[in-house]
Amino acid sequence: MRILTGIQPSGTPHIGNYFGAMRQIAEIQKKGEVFLFIADFHSLTTSPEPDALRKNVVELALNYLSCGIDSEKAVLFRQSDVPQVCELMWILNNVTPVGLLERAHSYKDKLAKGFAPNNGLFSYPVLMAADILLYKSDLVPVGKDQKQHLEITRDLAIKFNNQYGEIFTVPDELIPEEVAVVPGVDGQKMSKSYNNTIPIFGKEKEIRKTIMNIVTDCKGLEEPKDPDHCNVVALYKLVATPDELEEMKARYRAGNYGYGHAKQALFEKLWAYFEPMRKRRAELENNLDYVHEVLRRGAERAAVEADKTMAEVRKAVGLR
Ligand code: ADP
Ligand code: TRP
Repeated sequence: MRILTGIQPSGTPHIGNYFGAMRQIAEIQKKGEVFLFIADFHSLTTSPEPDALRKNVVELALNYLSCGIDSEKAVLFRQSDVPQVCELMWILNNVTPVGLLERAHSYKDKLAKGFAPNNGLFSYPVLMAADILLYKSDLVPVGKDQKQHLEITRDLAIKFNNQYGEIFTVPDELIPEEVAVVPGVDGQKMSKSYNNTIPIFGKEKEIRKTIMNIVTDCKGLEEPKDPDHCNVVALYKLVATPDELEEMKARYRAGNYGYGHAKQALFEKLWAYFEPMRKRRAELENNLDYVHEVLRRGAERAAVEADKTMAEVRKAVGLR
């Protein structure tokens, strides 16, 4: 079974990304052959600064390799290193009804956010379909927000197969069971766009300071506190054992346990939790040649599959 997913390179990863996405992708390596690519062609739809895009691709590879992606098991590659995907996209464009793309939520959302309506944004789902179909993927793990893109992919695969013969695998989506939304330091969903994140790989001092700034109510030290509506406890739950969590909750209820104590406990747990990943990342940062080599090998492996599919597709549609 081939499992494929793509991730857009963007900035510093936070613990919401880890518990909401990265951990699941690392876990899924046990289920089948994972193709994981860094979607730099897709990133162009929002015109990132060129040097930042190049840098973010390497950063993303570093982050995933540090957080559990095994380069011996998974095929990690940069989307643009296998440009056959653009050729397939062009071919798929010709079985894509414009109305289908006009209904895409992601396109409408981008316009609502003020992005200029360029054709890259409009045809984003066709490139995503090409990503998935090029590698004959069986299963595509994605967040809920990508569900409609998967439906479009399936539509295009079926339309193409009806017209030209059974070439594409019609993929299934894998939407992870509802992962609790990780709250940010202000209690809203943790997100880069809200400036409320706790980075995975920050400096000790910076992370401690961020944790000390988590918003709580203003109950005094002696007062009993409500552990079920507290951002500190919600974050502690992600990194503590069930016993440790219960112990903290009991302390909250008993009083004489301040938010400062809870934040200190959270900091210590969180720091220890990500220690192996920090170590791995530091090693990889000192060995960027290895990271580039992983991406090169990944692209080589992916290209073998891409060439096989494209040979079938070209023949079917009447190209050389
Ligand atoms: P951000 O909102 O910080 O820009 P992204 O949209 O880049 O994060 O998210 C990348 C992945 O991380 C997505 O799969 C998303 O579902 C997951 N993720 C992001 N923030 C959270 C969060 N606060 N809780 C759970 N998962 C999250
Ligand atoms: N659109 C996806 C996102 O923003 C990234 C992506 C691009 C992708 N191509 C893909 C995900 C193919 C799964 C399969 O999250």
